[in-house]
Amino acid sequence: MRVLVTGGAGYVGSVSVEALVAAGHDVLVLDDLSKGHRDALPGGVRFVQGSYGDPAVVGQLLANTPVDAVLHCAARSLVAESVSNPALYYRENVAGGVAFLEVLREAGVRRLVFSSTAAVYGTPASVPIREDAVLAPINPYGETKRTFEGALRWYAAAYGLRSVSLRYFNVAGASGRNGEVHAPETHLIPNVLAAAEGRAALTVFGIDYPTPDGTCIRDYLHVEDLARAHVLALEATSPGDPRTAGDGGPVGRTAPSDRTAADSRAAALAINLGNGGGFSVREVLSAAETVVGRPIPHAIGERRAGDPPVLVADAGRADEILGWRAQHRDIVEIVASAWAWRQAHPDGYRA
Ligand code: UFG
Repeated sequence: MRVLVTGGAGYVGSVSVEALVAAGHDVLVLDDLSKGHRDALPGGVRFVQGSYGDPAVVGQLLANTPVDAVLHCAARSLVAESVSNPALYYRENVAGGVAFLEVLREAGVRRLVFSSTAAVYGTPASVPIREDAVLAPINPYGETKRTFEGALRWYAAAYGLRSVSLRYFNVAGASGRNGEVHAPETHLIPNVLAAAEGRAALTVFGIDYPTPDGTCIRDYLHVEDLARAHVLALEATSPGDPRTAGDGGPVGRTAPSDRTAADSRAAALAINLGNGGGFSVREVLSAAETVVGRPIPHAIGERRAGDPPVLVADAGRADEILGWRAQHRDIVEIVASAWAWRQAHPDGYRA
């Protein structure tokens, strides 16, 4: 199939592009390069620089190159920024996202996989988190992702848009070609490795959480496992696939929370992507020390606002519906892949 990948020059997007190409799909990338890197794209992948929220750009692109399906990875995705500037998140993730859906509708594109997030759950009442847990985001980032998921559900019922929202937990690691470079970098593993390189000071945000070692526990998922899930989710939106059918196929019967109406024309699924296990901040630090072979200097700091003590996915549904399970489950292996990429790319991307 031919797939349009928004944000395909970003971290998750670029590794997903690699997986799609490896699976034999024809890939077209749309990215405004505000965060992404042109060098992250493999040779031979068609690229258009522009925003998914610009109907003229997307309309022209689809007129020139019709696509079968869309992988929508592009979005604003910094929690702290979303709190200080919610307007940006509503404008881009919600208004831009719906403008994008409208152009897809006009062009007759009825298959979409969406990069959603564990942030839609907020602070969960219990862990591991199942997809039918209450959605109560605690920041505009999570709220705007939840809102877009809602649009997908109603578009499924009314317009027959088949979709899968993949709720990522903590994406980590690297492929051989692509790794994680954000500016500013807020994520734990790149910050730990930057400290190992002597490039930045590391602070552990809180050691008084109600967890065995007092630090927060997160569900770290290798980006290549994530990319593989995207390919499987896109396949699940195929015309005729009962998993995203609107006529009460097997998923419709077992997952009523996904369905908006008994007569909906298509299904909008939501699926967690996680390792199914958690690692504490101290465990990640210790894994990184094993990988780099030396102690990593760090300070102990205050809790970071908005961090729940434990976020771990129940990833059973991904297995049940997509036949997907994380394969890289060892935190040392995940951190080692990130370290190898950094060693090979000491200055990140050129562009
Ligand atoms: N942490 C540190 N020091 C750092 C960076 C992080 O101690 O320098 C800690 C955090 O406090 C947290 C853990 O490491 O306990 C993981 O933090 P990350 O920033 O790497 O990831 P988050 O769990 O905060 O974020 C993830 C996703 C977000 C999503 C969020 C939902 O990356 O997209 O979960 O809560 F919004």
